[in-house]
Amino acid sequence: MDSNHGWPEPIIRVQSLSESGTETIPTRYIKPPSDRPSIAANSSPLSIPVIDMSAMSREEMASAMSAACREWGFFQVVNHGVRPELVRHAREIWRRFFHLPMEEKQRYANSPTTYEGYGSRLGVEKGACLDWGDYYFLHVLPSSLKNHEKWPALPPDLRDITDEYTRELLNLCGRVMEAMSIGLGLDPTRLQESFGGAEVGACLRVNYYPKCPQPDLTLGLSSHSDPGGMTVLLVDDRVRGLQVRKGSDWVTVEPILDAFILNVGDQIQSLFPCFQVLSNAIYKSVEHRVMVNAANERLSMALFYNPKADLPLSPIQELITPDRPALYKPMSFNEYRLYIRQRGPRGKSQVESLKTSQ
Ligand code: OGA
Ligand code: NI
Repeated sequence: MDSNHGWPEPIIRVQSLSESGTETIPTRYIKPPSDRPSIAANSSPLSIPVIDMSAMSREEMASAMSAACREWGFFQVVNHGVRPELVRHAREIWRRFFHLPMEEKQRYANSPTTYEGYGSRLGVEKGACLDWGDYYFLHVLPSSLKNHEKWPALPPDLRDITDEYTRELLNLCGRVMEAMSIGLGLDPTRLQESFGGAEVGACLRVNYYPKCPQPDLTLGLSSHSDPGGMTVLLVDDRVRGLQVRKGSDWVTVEPILDAFILNVGDQIQSLFPCFQVLSNAIYKSVEHRVMVNAANERLSMALFYNPKADLPLSPIQELITPDRPALYKPMSFNEYRLYIRQRGPRGKSQVESLKTSQ
């Protein structure tokens, strides 16, 4: 393997740039003015729905989640049944990983073929504009892809804690998938089945956004929709950063202690046929992005819950009618992911570009 591990140019760790004490960011990280986080857009008084999972019947929860998936593509859950100590421990141990010496982290430097390991960019286009963040990406499911050797060996209990954390989150995903099915008037297991039943995939991406001397000029993660099925995101409890697209506005998500943020990915959106009026008819994968800041670093953990990788996903038959035909051609998540990874984050253009002719 070449010294760049298959990347088109040498990889620079954003953390190293940040710790160098530079007062100006390299031009590679400067976004065009229209993409910069403007102060005005942050003042939207709206917020994504918050759903208390302990306070509702199955049907109430289904209709609350379903409404949130249609209107926002995003919601937060509280009292979700995952122990707060575990949630805090997982976040803390990953923070400790990013604070280990650089040589230790470099042992896991990733390549664009699998993305597994320690990374600092998405997309392989030479000279592309870069985001102000490093990450660690690993596989959780299927078990044939999960490989503890590719997970950090330090801190010593990181692997065990991450195992327990992801197990609990997979369980939560199962419950949410059920509610989302019921909310469409489908059999509770329908969405899960269309994802390949017990053969679903899951990966974890831990994002580390170092302090940035010029946060107004860049983003920690450019606007994108998540390519997978559904995402369970744990954000930093102290530092804001995530913004969700609502029409032409960006809504900043207020962190709630021990809550999870859930959002619909492109694979769920692609299960829907062509509704005349798209808004509020389908579960939407909505664009989001991450702001960075000068005073604090920020850590987030995204669990991506995905369909079985080689299963061609076609729209849910029960939702298709003569005047509501299929909108996307069947494509497997593997094919889709390959397409995305070559291009890096690009708002919603990726899923839109795969529509059939309507
Ligand atoms: C992601 C993502 C948001 C965040 O990893 O896909 O959108 O707050 N992360 O880090
Ligand atoms: Ni995302």
